[in-house]
Amino acid sequence: MHPFAFFVILSGLAAYKAQLCSNDAVVCEDMFYVSNGEPVRMSSCGDINGSANVTWFKNDSQISFTSDPQSRIHQNENVLWFIPASLDDAGLYTCNVRNVTYCTRLIVFENEEGLCYNRSTLFYNEQYLEAIKIVCPSITDYVDVSKAQVKWSKNCNPLQPEDKYLALADSLSIKNSVKEDEGLYTCAVQFHYNGTEYSLTRTIELKIAVLATSSSPMMLNPSNSIQKVELGSPISLKCEAINGVDVIMIWMYNNSFVDEFYGSDTRVIIGETFSSKTEDGELMWMRYLNFTEIKEEDYNRKFYCQIANSMSEAYVMLQRPDPNFQPFLIAFFVSLIFVIINIVIAIKIFKIDIVLWYRTSCFGRKNLKDGKLYDAYIMYPKSLSGTNSYPMDIFVLKVLPEVLEVQFSYRLFIFGRDVLPGEAMSDVIDEAISQSRRLVIVLGGIQTRNYLKDDFEQQIAMYDALIRNKIKVILIELEKGTDYTSMPESIQYIKQKQGAIRWKGEFTQANTKFWKHMRYYMPPTQAKNLQHSDSTNLNRC
Ligand SMILES: *[C@@H]1O[C@H](CO)[C@@H](O)[C@H](O)[C@H]1NC(C)=O
Ligand SMILES: *[C@@H]1O[C@H](CO)[C@@H](O)[C@H](O)[C@H]1NC(C)=O
Ligand SMILES: *[C@@H]1O[C@H](CO)[C@@H](O)[C@H](O)[C@H]1NC(C)=O
Ligand SMILES: *[C@@H]1O[C@H](CO)[C@@H](O)[C@H](O)[C@H]1NC(C)=O
Ligand SMILES: *[C@@H]1O[C@H](CO)[C@@H](O)[C@H](O)[C@H]1NC(C)=O
Ligand SMILES: *[C@@H]1O[C@H](CO)[C@@H](O)[C@H](O)[C@H]1NC(C)=O
Ligand SMILES: *[C@@H]1O[C@H](CO)[C@@H](O)[C@H](O)[C@H]1NC(C)=O
Ligand SMILES: *[C@@H]1O[C@H](CO)[C@@H](O)[C@H](O)[C@H]1NC(C)=O
Repeated sequence: MHPFAFFVILSGLAAYKAQLCSNDAVVCEDMFYVSNGEPVRMSSCGDINGSANVTWFKNDSQISFTSDPQSRIHQNENVLWFIPASLDDAGLYTCNVRNVTYCTRLIVFENEEGLCYNRSTLFYNEQYLEAIKIVCPSITDYVDVSKAQVKWSKNCNPLQPEDKYLALADSLSIKNSVKEDEGLYTCAVQFHYNGTEYSLTRTIELKIAVLATSSSPMMLNPSNSIQKVELGSPISLKCEAINGVDVIMIWMYNNSFVDEFYGSDTRVIIGETFSSKTEDGELMWMRYLNFTEIKEEDYNRKFYCQIANSMSEAYVMLQRPDPNFQPFLIAFFVSLIFVIINIVIAIKIFKIDIVLWYRTSCFGRKNLKDGKLYDAYIMYPKSLSGTNSYPMDIFVLKVLPEVLEVQFSYRLFIFGRDVLPGEAMSDVIDEAISQSRRLVIVLGGIQTRNYLKDDFEQQIAMYDALIRNKIKVILIELEKGTDYTSMPESIQYIKQKQGAIRWKGEFTQANTKFWKHMRYYMPPTQAKNLQHSDSTNLNRC
């Protein structure tokens, strides 16, 4: 049977309780009902033991009943039998036990027309939905119910053998009962006496009570779901239901109570079931299952909360949370950006070194096949004295060739060295510049301003057009405060865009900042570098 089903049987027929009557009493509440033509035995009397001598009388008449079992009405020990009863038998009966008189009323009724029962003599039986079981009442004193065959009918129609009904001994079970199973159930059992078969019938009015749905508790939590929890952290599992009265909540695991399952494990604490009112005035029921610390073994266990009142259950299962990659990803991208920024900064700082290194490496070595003769044409304000003792002359005629030509194997065309002023100047210069890959313009400071200014500016102006388009220009300032205002726009533009390299009178060493800049702006060297370590490199490439 369903463990949570419970039923109530209420009997509407008079209890078989002896009613004490005074000698002159006519009021009698103790009653026996019998259908006309059916046997009945009247047993009730003050003598519960059955050991005392009892004498039955009808309606105070002093004539006692015979004990002859052949007689229709006879007394057998303390019991008065009517086999069968007839309408005339109805009335008051008394029995005397040790000077005390008890009284009983016998009611003999007839069934209503066309029916198998009389509505005023029903047994009453109310049961709750689920599994219903009714018992054929008050037949055990007549027959052995374990052997008797009880026949059932509903509203006087015999019940067809069906899965729904199960008649066993004196009971009838109704499965999957519904409200429509309400009705008048009549049971009939055969009673044999003195070679004759009699029928004993009783009719039961079955009422089916349905629990009001609003009062049935409804499970809110858990909901057959998974809850993520870190190993070692505490968790609080909540069983929640709404509505219901005296709701019973039970936490179960593997068909046993959770506290029983965990035994003396103090990590598991189960609270009491408690109720509270919602805003809508409905009752909320709650019971906690707390873990102070989650262990490996708790994972993947289904903890069920059962609500006894509504026969409902639901589980929650604990699982390890998915690893969280987000912080790692953020850290990765932050460091990536940091690295990129550093690389960009490093490239900015070491751009020149990188380019120079690249040029000297195998990848950077390629022959320039532009057919030009010179790597650079050096243009500068030439002093007229010809002494070569001015800083400008020293720089251009001595320092520049010493480093660029000797150390780095550049080929320079220096005005004033490779062509002397006065020669068919414009033609030579024209030719030389067109044969050069770079145009180096050396600018003097305020002091050098006056030296052959006109000549110099004339040259610059002359090749302004050329500068604009084809040839790359390198500006070198020999002194601070070089004034560009008088320069052609193209030079100003170059100064603005590319800047000028400033000569600070450093040594003619190759790795100083000036020379690095210089080499950076110069085309890649074609011939062998003079640095001795490179000679081996060259062989390898
Ligand atoms: C039942 O019997 C016992 C002795 O057998 C007796 O003492 C007792 O009073 C009796 N009870 C009644 C109600 O007659
Ligand atoms: C009952 O009555 C019989 C005779 O009528 C008698 O022999 C017997 O002793 C009585 N029993 C009791 C318990 O009084
Ligand atoms: C029963 O007895 C009373 C008196 O004790 C009498 O008035 C009544 O008529 C009798 N009834 C029957 C049905 O014998
Ligand atoms: C019992 O059976 C006998 C013989 O068959 C018969 O004479 C008698 O009337 C029967 N008694 C009853 C109460 O039916
Ligand atoms: C029964 O009643 C008679 C007379 O009324 C009395 O003498 C007797 O003692 C009573 N017996 C009992 C057991 O009460
Ligand atoms: C049903 O039984 C009652 C007595 O309990 C009786 O008064 C009534 O007449 C009976 N009904 C029918 C239809 O016989
Ligand atoms: C669950 O219960 C069954 C039977 O009581 C038992 O054999 C089994 O070991 C239990 N499982 C766990 C995980 O305790
Ligand atoms: C379980 O945990 C909840 C929430 O943390 C708390 O309110 C409750 O009191 C705890 N119950 C028990 C029995 O420890």
